[in-house]
Amino acid sequence: MVEIVDGKQVAASVIESVQSATAALEKDAGVKPGLAVVIVGDDPASHAYVSSKSRMAKECGFTSIQHTLPEETTQEELARLVETLNADESVHGILVQLPLPKHLNSEPIIQSIRPEKDVDGLHVVNAGKLATGDLDGGLVSCTPAGAMVFVRRTHGSDLSGLNAVVIGRSNLFGKPMSALLLAANATVTTAHSRTKDLAAVCRNADILVAAVGRPEMVKADWVKPGATVIDVGINRIAAPEKGEGKSRMVGDVAFEECAKVAGAITPVPGGVGPMTIAMLMANTVIAAYRKAG
Ligand code: GUN
Repeated sequence: MVEIVDGKQVAASVIESVQSATAALEKDAGVKPGLAVVIVGDDPASHAYVSSKSRMAKECGFTSIQHTLPEETTQEELARLVETLNADESVHGILVQLPLPKHLNSEPIIQSIRPEKDVDGLHVVNAGKLATGDLDGGLVSCTPAGAMVFVRRTHGSDLSGLNAVVIGRSNLFGKPMSALLLAANATVTTAHSRTKDLAAVCRNADILVAAVGRPEMVKADWVKPGATVIDVGINRIAAPEKGEGKSRMVGDVAFEECAKVAGAITPVPGGVGPMTIAMLMANTVIAAYRKAG
């Protein structure tokens, strides 16, 4: 029988641990974790994500500060805000929601965040620590960190002898995911749009992670029987059965057919999504503990 991984339930247990750690930090050191979330422009999907992050931060007992900047914000204005947040002792985590409007260059902004406040794990210092196998010293990107929680639940923390395939090579997900799997001793292939015979590469995977942004691209005959399939895709497709103009959310994996072959599979929605937010909270409380010494 396939296990349909309940991301909400796993995320809820991570959140409970964060809440206990937050209460202990406040009691023992008088420190309340502070998370600053910055959003620029009017993209509705980004606003929805940011609202969930701010709401969850409050539920965790953090000080949650949301900076909503207009679409026409300049590079200098955004850079100045990051500098202010870098200098603010009450802010332990800074997240600049991506993508930024087209006229802004995200890379210098991300790299200007102090690495110890980079709860997204995107600063080169944090990416470099992960790439060199230093998993305890830095902050790990939230979505791959969450996906690894699912992997460990099924396979334990040592993936020796297992083949893992990650489809996608973004800095936000594919590269850190591959690094985490490698650090856990998996044999890792990072596949992408130029990979030849992707289906055959995927069929070799004991752990298959899809992060490509193509609705239901991974089919049942790409999946090795019994494999763990983790779907990181968030795609909206037309759903005329729900009424005219309606849409529904699907992942990068054709869920129904792949669930017949996989050993464990994450659904969309309700899989990786809730875990990403939970790991952001975990990173923020870790950053606050480190600051408190
Ligand atoms: N946009 C979509 N996912 C993410 C994320 O994990 N972090 C940031 N900063 N922006 C995102």
